[in-house]
Amino acid sequence: MSTIIAPSILAADFANLQRDIEIINNSEAEWLHIDIMDGLFVPNISFGMPVMAAIAKHSKKPLDVHLMIEKPERYLEAFRDLGAFQLTVHAEACPHLHRTIQQIKELGIKAGVALNPHTNISILEYVIADLDLVCLMSVNPGFGGQKFIPTTYEKLINVNEMIATRGSKALIEIDGGVNIETGLKLVDRGAEVLVAGSFIFGSPDPAKTISELKQKLTEVEQ
Ligand code: DX5
Ligand code: ZN
Repeated sequence: MSTIIAPSILAADFANLQRDIEIINNSEAEWLHIDIMDGLFVPNISFGMPVMAAIAKHSKKPLDVHLMIEKPERYLEAFRDLGAFQLTVHAEACPHLHRTIQQIKELGIKAGVALNPHTNISILEYVIADLDLVCLMSVNPGFGGQKFIPTTYEKLINVNEMIATRGSKALIEIDGGVNIETGLKLVDRGAEVLVAGSFIFGSPDPAKTISELKQKLTEVEQ
């Protein structure tokens, strides 16, 4: 399967958001990744509904929304209405994770769960069959441009096994510190979606970077 590339808008130039969205529209990226941070679940605040609405207005790519917020159940419907095709909540932010997943699915969109680097994948054991996406954080969430945490490789292999054992259809997404080097190793170990922020938007030609990444990944895709 061809790897899904999800550029993270967090690394775009917010003063030229429309321009950067159009660059992604005209690229080979499959999704656009939207990072919502509340300053509570993570130390940083990114942006909220009006900016998400502006992004949705211009993006031709499906919006993969990553909610790094406390009590995300308060805002699921709002983000669906703003155009998310998929909502990913953090297991650490959801005491009633099973219910939150069902709420997302009842909204008629895809449901993902993200895990912080220290969180054991065992928390997913009894919900993984219901999931469309598992997002393994390969940095501590809250900021772009951080260094990839290598224990993610082992976690990825283990979550892949769990998906097979439980008969889940969930895709595995890796978020944080993705570049060509880490991307190749990740896809070789079963990653199906790569989120990349600074690697793409920090390059002189983001569309070309996406194209080169996709080209390289064909060497290891299964
Ligand atoms: C981190 C966010 C990521 C971030 C990735 O909290 O969830 O999506 O934008 O940025 P890079 O690719 O720069 O690590
Ligand atoms: Zn993210």
